[in-house]
Amino acid sequence: MKIAVLPGDGIGKEVTAQALKVLKAVVNGAATFEEAPIGGEGVKAAGDPLPEATLDLARQSDAILFGAAGLPGDELGPRNLRPGGGLLRLRRELKLFANFRPAMMFPELVGASSLKPELVEGLDLIVLRELNGDIYYGTPRGVSTNADGVREGVNTMRYTEPEIERIAHVGFKAARERRKKLTSVDKANVLETMVLWRETVAKVAKSYPEVELRNLFVDAASMELVRAPKQFDVIVTPNMFGDILSDAAAMLTGSIGMLPSASIGEGNKGLYEPVHGSAPDIAGKGIANPLAAILSAAMLLRYSFGRKDDADRIEKAVRKVLAGGYRTADILQPGMKKVGTAEMGDAVLAALK
Ligand code: IPM
Ligand code: MG
Repeated sequence: MKIAVLPGDGIGKEVTAQALKVLKAVVNGAATFEEAPIGGEGVKAAGDPLPEATLDLARQSDAILFGAAGLPGDELGPRNLRPGGGLLRLRRELKLFANFRPAMMFPELVGASSLKPELVEGLDLIVLRELNGDIYYGTPRGVSTNADGVREGVNTMRYTEPEIERIAHVGFKAARERRKKLTSVDKANVLETMVLWRETVAKVAKSYPEVELRNLFVDAASMELVRAPKQFDVIVTPNMFGDILSDAAAMLTGSIGMLPSASIGEGNKGLYEPVHGSAPDIAGKGIANPLAAILSAAMLLRYSFGRKDDADRIEKAVRKVLAGGYRTADILQPGMKKVGTAEMGDAVLAALK
């Protein structure tokens, strides 16, 4: 097993160090790890948010453990130097089009959720976000001055039928293995691209008669997600809506610091990252929650290497640590033990035994 480690920026570095520590302990010499810069670190090292050497390493690896990319003021710089752009290019270069963001409520964190306990107890849903298309990559794009001398910004929401088909298949297959309910999110009441999305998902549905398909407009989906989240099993969504809905789903589970993710393509190669960003406001303070990164390492073992027992071991250790009262600031509750990033990582490490 060859694993590329791309910590990136801000708290990405801090949480990845903890995930790596846990991963190394679990695989016990059965994997090799190589680190490379990405995001702002890539710009610093090689003038590129996705340096050639980093992309090469990612191509040659079986799996990628990723932290976060982004620095304050990113949105102001030239597009080719923006840290987040490194991650976006990596997803596309490696054709990692299916992004699983499972929102699972740990019983110990029910009180940390912003919703009433009865609404989130036992919550277990997956946001399946399409990751290679949509307005993130569509052209034309850019800011220019139009014929009237007025500055104008353009982005393009674009999906081809095969792109929708392949993510729909992943969604139906995932739902088939679970509670057999797939919710497809779109905005077909306004956008033609989303009409194609809805029609294509309906066509793919014919091959999965055992799965119940429901279509929701994105505004209704976001409302239902915070009103009654337990109605959902798998939610398949275009790239941009998935970006938004998955952050909301993370908060249901107590904190964005709790949501891991797996981005996969046709093969077993995958990129694993916590859903949270680089969080410049708390970076360098040693207080970030490393659990989403650690749970992403568990997903890496499960999805890319089929090491179910190892993945279970990590997830169980996380449960144990939470049951033991360890909490980083974001999930802190009265009477609990407040710990920093490294202490939390150490606690998980100790709980593996
Ligand atoms: C995410 C992030 C990224 C995205 C950013 C960093 C480009 O918000 O993975 O959700 O928008 O996809
Ligand atoms: Mg996001």
